[in-house]
Amino acid sequence: MRVKFQPSGALVEVSEGTSLLAASHQAGVALESPCGGRGTCGKCRVIVDGDAGPLTDAEQRHLSLEEIQAGYRLACQAVVASDLLVRVPEGSQVYSVSILSQGLTREVALEPWVRRATLYVPPSTLEDQASDLAALQKAWQQQGFDDLSVSLGALRRLPAALRQDDGLVTLILADGELIEILPGVDEGPVLGLAYDIGTTTIVGYLLDLTTGRELAVASLLNPQTQYGDDVVSRIQHITAVPNGLQQLQDAVVGAINRIATDACRQAGVPADCVYGMTAVGNTTMQHLLLGVDPSALARSPYVPVVAEAVSIPAQRLGLAIHPEAHVWALASIAGWVGADTVGVILATGQHQADEISLAIDIGTNGEMTLGSRQRLVACSTAAGPAFEGAHLSCGMRAASGAIDQVSIDGDVHWRTIQNTPPRGICGSGLVDLVAQMLDAEILRESGMMHDAQHLTDLGQSALAARIRSEGRHRAFDLVLPQEGADGRPVRVSQRDIRELQLAKGAIRAGIEILLDELGIGHADVARVYLAGAFGNYIRPESALRIGLMPAFPNAEIVPVGNAAGSGAKLALLSQSARDETRDIVRLVEYLELSILPEFQDQFAASMVF
Ligand code: FES
Repeated sequence: MRVKFQPSGALVEVSEGTSLLAASHQAGVALESPCGGRGTCGKCRVIVDGDAGPLTDAEQRHLSLEEIQAGYRLACQAVVASDLLVRVPEGSQVYSVSILSQGLTREVALEPWVRRATLYVPPSTLEDQASDLAALQKAWQQQGFDDLSVSLGALRRLPAALRQDDGLVTLILADGELIEILPGVDEGPVLGLAYDIGTTTIVGYLLDLTTGRELAVASLLNPQTQYGDDVVSRIQHITAVPNGLQQLQDAVVGAINRIATDACRQAGVPADCVYGMTAVGNTTMQHLLLGVDPSALARSPYVPVVAEAVSIPAQRLGLAIHPEAHVWALASIAGWVGADTVGVILATGQHQADEISLAIDIGTNGEMTLGSRQRLVACSTAAGPAFEGAHLSCGMRAASGAIDQVSIDGDVHWRTIQNTPPRGICGSGLVDLVAQMLDAEILRESGMMHDAQHLTDLGQSALAARIRSEGRHRAFDLVLPQEGADGRPVRVSQRDIRELQLAKGAIRAGIEILLDELGIGHADVARVYLAGAFGNYIRPESALRIGLMPAFPNAEIVPVGNAAGSGAKLALLSQSARDETRDIVRLVEYLELSILPEFQDQFAASMVF
C-alpha cells in the first residue's frame, strides 16, 4: 500500500499492517518518538487521511476528542490499512537540534599516537636476497627503533611503494603499527577524528595530527533516537526486536560516517587520510558503537560487558575512513558513568588539581564527579530525561521552537530557539520557568501549583487566567493556544513539575552524597564545572533557585561546554593524555546510589524547591 507523507512529499510502499512509524522510517521522514514506539510518550502525532486501523488504548489516552475528530493518530499505534496521506504537524517533526560542539580544554603537548616518518630502504640484490619486509625492518631498526608490526593492508602495498621511488617511502604509524606505506616523501594530510557520541547528538572533530589544528567540526542528531530518546528505551528495543542491536549499531556507524564525510568535505581533505579516531560516550553508546549487547546495564547489578578501552581497525566497524585506522573507544568508569565522564575529567583536569572541584554533566543522565588529585568520587542518576524534555507533556529537545528562557513579571515572557513559534520547552527553559513560578508564587516550595484564586488575591489576574484544571490536577499555560505552533498551547502540568522535581532531587541528592563521602562541605568546593549543552545554557541563578545544586559560597561556576568532546580530542592529540585516561579510571571511585541507605532520605529532602 502507498503512504505519502506531507509536507515532505515522501512516498513509500509498505505492506498492510505496517505501523505508520515504521513507514516513516522507510520514507526517511524523521518523526519525534521519544518512547521508541511504545505508545507512552504521545509525541508521534500525525494527521491521517485514509484507513489506519482502529484507535488503540494508547491513542485514547493521549489524544483529545477534538484531535481524534480532526484525524490525529499516533504514528506508532496506527497501521496502514489502505493507501494513506499522512500529514506530519510541526510539533512531531524532528528538527535539527542545537548542538554544542566547543568546550573548555587544557593545553597538552602535541604528541599523537598516529605519526608519519620517511625511510630509505636499500633495494635487495642477488647477493642479499632479503624479503621486502625484512629489508624494511632492517632499515627501520637502523634508525634506532624496535621491530615494526605491519598491517596486512600495508604489507600488500609494500612492494609497489618500495620500487616506485628507489626505496624512499613514507610510513604512517598508529600506535607503532605500520598501517600505510606511500612511495617517496609524501606530505599529504595526516588526520584524526575525535567523536563525542551522545545519546541525543553526535559531534565529530577533524584534527590535523601534524599541527594539532582543528580543521572542521560536524554534528548530527543521533539517529538512534528513532528507537527511543533514552538509553533504556534503546536497550528495550534490542530485547524486543531480533536485529535490534544491529539496527542501533548501523545507525551510529552511519552517523559517524556522515559526520566524517561532512568534516572532510569542509576541510577539503580525503577521508582515507584519517588514520586515527577516538570516541567517548556513555557506556551504552560505547557498547552500541562496538556492536556489543548492553542489555546487562539495564538490570541489577548494572555491569557493562566491557569498561576497558578498546582499539579496533576502522574496517571492522564499517567506518569510511582509512580502513586500518586505529579506533579507540575510551574506557568507562562504571555501567552508568561512561567514557564521556572520563573525557570531562581529562579536559577539566580534575584528576590533577589540588583544589576540590565538582563536575556536573546533565544529558539524558546526570553524572557528577567531585574531588581532586587526592581522591575523586563519582555517581550517576537516571534523572536526565526530564531535563531533555522526553518525559514531559510539553517538553522537547533544544531545537527550533523550544522555549529556552522564561521570565514572569505579572505576565509571562519567553524566548524560543531561532525565534520560531513555540512548540515546547527544553531543559534550561523548564528550570527557568520553575524558578520564576516559585518567585511569582504560582508554585509552592513543595512543588504544588497554587489555584487561580490565590493569584487573583495577589492581584495577579493575568497569571491567574493561565491556571487550568486538568481533572484533579492543575496546569499552567506558558504559551496560549493562539501563540503556539500549530495553534497548540505549551501547557506545563503538575505532573511535568513533578518529573522535574524527581530529576533535580536525584541530582541534588547525588551531589550531597558525594560531599558526605569526601567529608567536606559546600564551602570547600573551589570550582563547579557545568558540562554539556544543558549545563552551558542553564542560568546558574535558576539552578540555585530550584535547588538543583546548592550554593557553593567559595566556588567559581564554570560552564565548560562539550568537555567530553574536548577530552576525546586530547586523547587523539596526545599519547600521554590518552594514557592519563587509564589513571583516571583507576582513581575514580564510583558510588552506586541505589544501594546507599542514605540516598532515599537525601532524595526525599532534595525534592522540595
Ligand atoms: S507514543 Fe508513539 S513514539 Fe511514543
